[in-house]
Amino acid sequence: MEDKSTQPIGLFDSGIGGTSIWKEIHAVLPNEDTIYLADTANAPYGQKSKDEIIALSFKNTEYLLKQGAKIIVVACNTATTNAIKEMRSHFDVPFIGIEPAIKPAAIHTETGNVGILATKGTLSSELFHKTVAGFSGINFIEQVGFNLVTLIESGKINSPEMTALLQEYMEPMIKANIDYLVLGCSHYPYLIPQIKEILPETVKIIDSGEAVAKQTKAVLQQHGLLNTTPHKGTNTFYTNADTAVLQSIIGNDFKAEKTAF
Ligand code: DGL
Repeated sequence: MEDKSTQPIGLFDSGIGGTSIWKEIHAVLPNEDTIYLADTANAPYGQKSKDEIIALSFKNTEYLLKQGAKIIVVACNTATTNAIKEMRSHFDVPFIGIEPAIKPAAIHTETGNVGILATKGTLSSELFHKTVAGFSGINFIEQVGFNLVTLIESGKINSPEMTALLQEYMEPMIKANIDYLVLGCSHYPYLIPQIKEILPETVKIIDSGEAVAKQTKAVLQQHGLLNTTPHKGTNTFYTNADTAVLQSIIGNDFKAEKTAF
């Protein structure tokens, strides 16, 4: 069998959000090469139909496979919850998906009230409904993060518009006495500092990044795909729109490149 272990890990998201997942993966697997696709030209995915999300996810996956990806990390909750089943049955490569981390919040909540902030596409998906139905005693306060991704993709993470939206979205959760907030979109970890200023200190904020990184390592191991060479991995970042926001998020150690895909 062909040894694919030195080939890159492919990741995609509708934009810069999945870099929050990439950072966790890179921390756990620094010697792996990675290729990150920000499908910025088509962001946000959250308001699109299931069929549109499936089509975009296939396009991104095909591009990453052409670049030699040995595994695909769907660094997007919206694409995972709407298209992972279809991707897994169409492509002969392992997939890692991300979903809102409801389980740890549901297990540890003391007030019995858990907030979930995610896109419309994620909150209306069948996969999300199924997961929530598994925790019948918990009161979930679901909130669509309308416009948050658009503001993040326009470089407005720290802006009065962002603060106003977050205040509006957190208000019902504070009223409902949540003690856990689940961030169900890979863009949202970049909003944690602002969210913390709005929520009571006692509320714990959970995202899926660390768990996804551990899962990626475990799946690579299972498939004999873990890169065991000691070299420092190369990390490529592509966007199909302006590079400025992606570049500001990944920092000067890496380079955002514009490519058509
Ligand atoms: N970052 C994505 C997610 O995790 C997609 C957000 C969007 O494009 O609406 O859901």
